[in-house]
Amino acid sequence: MRIKQYLFAAFVALALLGSASAAGGNYDLMSARSDLSNQASLQRGAKLFVNYCLSCHSASFMRYNRMAEDLGLTEEQLISNLMFASDKSGSTMTVAMNEKDANKWFGVVPPDLSVIARSRGPDWLYSYFMTFYRDDARPFGVNNLVFPSVGMPHVMERLQGVQRLRELKEDEVRSRDPKRELVLESEGSRSPGKFSKDMRDLTNFLIYVGEPVKLERYGLGIKVILFLLVLTFLTRALYKEYWKDVH
Ligand code: HEC
Repeated sequence: MRIKQYLFAAFVALALLGSASAAGGNYDLMSARSDLSNQASLQRGAKLFVNYCLSCHSASFMRYNRMAEDLGLTEEQLISNLMFASDKSGSTMTVAMNEKDANKWFGVVPPDLSVIARSRGPDWLYSYFMTFYRDDARPFGVNNLVFPSVGMPHVMERLQGVQRLRELKEDEVRSRDPKRELVLESEGSRSPGKFSKDMRDLTNFLIYVGEPVKLERYGLGIKVILFLLVLTFLTRALYKEYWKDVH
């Protein structure tokens, strides 16, 4: 009897924990639909990262030349598209801004993004990039749905355009939580479809940065399967050979 009671209590506790963590983030994340095997997407993501993020954030675990090799870029493409004049191809992706300035400007130091995809997860990142909106009450005039009161300016607003938050009226509320929606007030240089694709590329790139060996594993997987196929074939041939005289 006691055991049953314990089990019941444990079950209730787990159920409560589960529902609490589900309710924790009150915004339904969007799916990043990431695809690490898409090299073109990784290349575009790398370009976005270098152009829009590296001025504040580093990715200090990542070396340029390793990235070039993984993403199928030539030395020339690497230098002309992705590197600033001062960087050597063997150096890591570090940032020019020093911590004191960063603190003065943003009140926080922009974190290194080497392993951000592992701590936040792809869907969080993608949703974060998609849900910046104008909020005049904030220091930089922007806020974010998955990172409320964020200290990062919307560095891609020129691409995305200006989003505003709109509270939904009672009869408009459709899904579980969002009682609000983002409305694109004025378009940026990218159409909404292109911008979300850009953000998928960027997310894809950050996943790769967090775990570059994943790409190697992909390649290895194919080799292993080929090897097994050949082995199956050989074993079968051998089997036939052995049993030829018996049958
Ligand atoms: C002008 C400087 C600046 C630029 C450029 C910038 N960021 Fe940020 N970013 C920040 C600051 C500051 C924070 C910390 C925000 C906070 O803690 O409130 C931040 C936070 C983040 C976070 C959340 C980190 C966490 O705490 O989990 C992510 C992810 C991120 N930035 C990604 C990017 C990406 C990707 C780009 C390029 C598209 C970019 N940032 C460009 C300043 C910048």
